[in-house]
Amino acid sequence: MPPLLLLHGFPLDHTLWTPQVEGLAGITEVIAPDLRGFGQDGRAVPEAMTMEAYARDVKGLLDDRGIDRVVLGGLSMGGYVAMAFAEAWPERLAGLLLINTRATADDQAGKRGREDTAQRALDQGMTVIARAMVPTLLSESTRQRDPALATSVEAMIARQRPEAVAAASRGMALRPDMHAALARLRAPALVITGEQDTLMPLPTSLALQATVPGAELVVIPGAAHLSNLEGPVAFNAAAGKFLATIA
Ligand code: MLT
Repeated sequence: MPPLLLLHGFPLDHTLWTPQVEGLAGITEVIAPDLRGFGQDGRAVPEAMTMEAYARDVKGLLDDRGIDRVVLGGLSMGGYVAMAFAEAWPERLAGLLLINTRATADDQAGKRGREDTAQRALDQGMTVIARAMVPTLLSESTRQRDPALATSVEAMIARQRPEAVAAASRGMALRPDMHAALARLRAPALVITGEQDTLMPLPTSLALQATVPGAELVVIPGAAHLSNLEGPVAFNAAAGKFLATIA
């Protein structure tokens, strides 16, 4: 069984995947790296880090570890990176897991918002951004049921380096539309989203599912944007079932 490599979203780090590293390890090896500049990755970042550049880092990681084929999963920005990888190295892909993400590029207003986010990170630091983001990432029911989770997500964002956050934000503005690339995909694919994700609402995931040949869609009840953290039991069941089809 190929390993499962999971790519975190923006502006998070590998600890996003703690419930999967623990819950799916019995099925296959789970690898959860930090994208360049995030978490414990101390590498320097350029002014804009494109999704293709992160994907090259992923390819480098696989080459370094001697991994030929991988099941690649990515949440939101991690999904953008996974799509860039799938386009560049389809022969290395045993399966694709697209989580709370989308295939569309940013419109002009979206691109301007990316630069605002980059500037805010650099000028104000991450504490303010962290506090503002949590209500958009976690559903109200998650925050009420599990305040400790909300606190740990806020801390995860607050500890990221502003330079890495700015580079990622600018890189997301540069990403192309991926529909044509996804339509060519031949690897098995699963789309997962949260029932209450307002950043990537359900129609976005339905469009993604319709684009990828043979893809299934699983909606995690009560979850918003961080469906793997908010509904880990349902999420791991869906991911485990998907991995079993690949084995
Ligand atoms: C993410 O969670 O990675 C971001 O919401 C992605 C985005 O802003 O497009």
